Amino acid sequence: MTDDAIIEETIQFVKETLKGAEGGHDWFHIQRVFRNTLFIAKDEKVDVLVASLGALLHDIADAKFYNGDETIGPKMAATFLTSLNVDQKVIDHVVKIIENISYKNSLDPNASTFTSPELQVVQDADRLDAIGAIGIARTFNYGGFKNRELYNPAIPPNFNQSKEAYKKSAAPTINHFYEKLLLLKDKMNTQTGKEMAAQRHQFMLNYLEQFYAEWNPIGVKED
Ligand code: ADP
Ligand code: NI
Repeated sequence: MTDDAIIEETIQFVKETLKGAEGGHDWFHIQRVFRNTLFIAKDEKVDVLVASLGALLHDIADAKFYNGDETIGPKMAATFLTSLNVDQKVIDHVVKIIENISYKNSLDPNASTFTSPELQVVQDADRLDAIGAIGIARTFNYGGFKNRELYNPAIPPNFNQSKEAYKKSAAPTINHFYEKLLLLKDKMNTQTGKEMAAQRHQFMLNYLEQFYAEWNPIGVKED
């Protein structure tokens, strides 16, 4: 099978598997991450097949929606790629990307230290979709999906969270900006990713300023 045919089959598999997914983790999230990956990869020395498959399969079974089981996604990806007779070396690398891409992982001191240029590109591509205009939309969509408050001045953000606390947090959605979104620009791996993140970061700062101005136009002290 050609690389293009493998990618085409994978796209169909992912579209089918993610039918009905929450709006921030659906096929269009995958499509944007795939496009970001191809865009960033133009300036990096990477195996484009590995990076493409990593992007397409990175959220195939997001642990948030599987009772926290982080082993299902990598297994599903490996089983699918094996059914297409993809090279074992490619499969192993894609599985490592899926296992290591998540932000939560970076909060875990015992997390694996695996890295590769392909992981770095896909991770940047995924992080870019978590910030800027789209990142804001996804974050409020997720908060709505979980029935969270938009904002609550009495509940401050919790910095320095453990991976477990981060996963369990039911805080208002605005807190997620401080707990994750605003931290991402300093975690980008590639030059292209850093430049794109800087612009999206500034957009979020402007957004937050406007949000608070609208929340409290008469300047009353919050209690
Ligand atoms: P990762 O897979 O990188 O650890 P997540 O899947 O936890 O990241 O988050 C992906 C996106 O889902 C976030 O960028 C955000 O838009 C949304 N999201 C996840 N957790 C929350 C939360 N607690 N509040 C609001 N949005 C969230
Ligand atoms: Ni993702």
